[in-house]
Amino acid sequence: MTDKLWGGRFDEDITQDVLDYTLTVDVDVRLVFADLWQDIAHVLMLGAGGIVPGEVARALLGSLLQLWEQNERGELRLRPELEDVHFNIEQMVIEELGREIGGHLQTARSRNDQVSTDTRMYLRRVQLDAVAANLDLIGVLLAFPEEELLAILPGYTHSQAAQPISVAFWKTAHASMLLRDVRRLRDAFGRTDESPLGACALAGTSFPLDRELTARLLGFGRVLSHALDATSARDYLIESAAAFAIGGNTLSRMAEEVVMWSGHEYSLVEVSDAYATGSSIMPQKKNPVVAELARGRAGRTAGTLVQLLTMAKGVTLGYSCDLQEDKPYLWHAIDAYLSTLRITAGQTRGLRFDSARGEELCWDNFSTATELANHLVAERGLAFREAHHVSGALVSALLKRGATLRDTAAGAEILAGLGHPVAEPVLARIFAPRNAVAGYVSPGGTSPASVGAVRDELNEAVAGHAAW
Ligand code: ARG
Repeated sequence: MTDKLWGGRFDEDITQDVLDYTLTVDVDVRLVFADLWQDIAHVLMLGAGGIVPGEVARALLGSLLQLWEQNERGELRLRPELEDVHFNIEQMVIEELGREIGGHLQTARSRNDQVSTDTRMYLRRVQLDAVAANLDLIGVLLAFPEEELLAILPGYTHSQAAQPISVAFWKTAHASMLLRDVRRLRDAFGRTDESPLGACALAGTSFPLDRELTARLLGFGRVLSHALDATSARDYLIESAAAFAIGGNTLSRMAEEVVMWSGHEYSLVEVSDAYATGSSIMPQKKNPVVAELARGRAGRTAGTLVQLLTMAKGVTLGYSCDLQEDKPYLWHAIDAYLSTLRITAGQTRGLRFDSARGEELCWDNFSTATELANHLVAERGLAFREAHHVSGALVSALLKRGATLRDTAAGAEILAGLGHPVAEPVLARIFAPRNAVAGYVSPGGTSPASVGAVRDELNEAVAGHAAW
């Protein structure tokens, strides 16, 4: 027999190497609050159901509440030689009350239902934190100043200038995407919020457990009934990792635009000094490192999803130790995602867009060529395909002359030659990026009125989520 809590059938203890290889106390530090809370709920249920005598339940509760306070004071230390948080707390209770009393704690329970219960409790907190952090960032994006409704950016497709958009349109686009990440997190919360406690090792137990009671005491929405499913399932956690990975990608795409557009060649946006660093050799450098890291860290969240899927795919039902690999992976993703969400909110608050530069690029990149085609359709009754050809021929002729849409004299002359004369001042009006932005009044378009309406819609959704 060894002095391990499970030592009855063993003659020899595990080696230090094996302990180091198998222990999870470093990872379990985040689960102490959940494990203690769960112990308390379990003992209340055991006592209420007469599964352990009243005075035993009282003694156990006294000991657990002391440990709770010790943990609140930051003084509870997990001992590596006790493997994991569950054995640590059981051992602490036994050391305080003796095995005769303390040894009742693990009645009708296993570390297999315990660990999933703890992880779900911790994960619920993280999901709520992630929802809150997303809502903060969305709030920053939606609080754009009114002048950004007509602050100009080139909109891109294929990374080529496409049509002008407003800064407010860009910000609301990211807010709209982030709101879906919020919905995904809430969906994941719904399937995390189920109590596996009382499933025991895998098959349930002969003791008359009240699983509804422990679920309620732990704030779970419902019981996950099937004991074998409850102890085996990790899909709830993979689903969360998927929500983190998708959310990480949302942030990464925004970061990519900030990195690219802050380069000299674009000069469309500048991050505040507090979110950039310099170079050890090149004095002129201002590197948007926060955005670069936000982009890079999406590799962690994506990687975690693949790690978890791969880890779990071959595990037969019933607990196997492979499953204990879930937590370090997941913690890694949680830290990457939450830190990126929070720092992105700070960075976004300080972004300075250069509308004059945006307008300049839109002129130079023929971003409003579509507007001439639309004009010929609306004012001259041409079919759009025909008008597209006329405008395309104008672009081609201007390019050959090394001119742009700004050269309205050249533009008017070329169009007259094409048999579709348009007066110079009219051309100047048609091609002005600001006028194009103001004109995209279709629902969801980039005009101030459309963006204003979308902002109201998004704000309403935010209020709904905040009240959740
Ligand atoms: N520390 C384990 C984990 O993190 C707890 C469950 C262990 N159960 C077992 N039968 N070895 O997953």
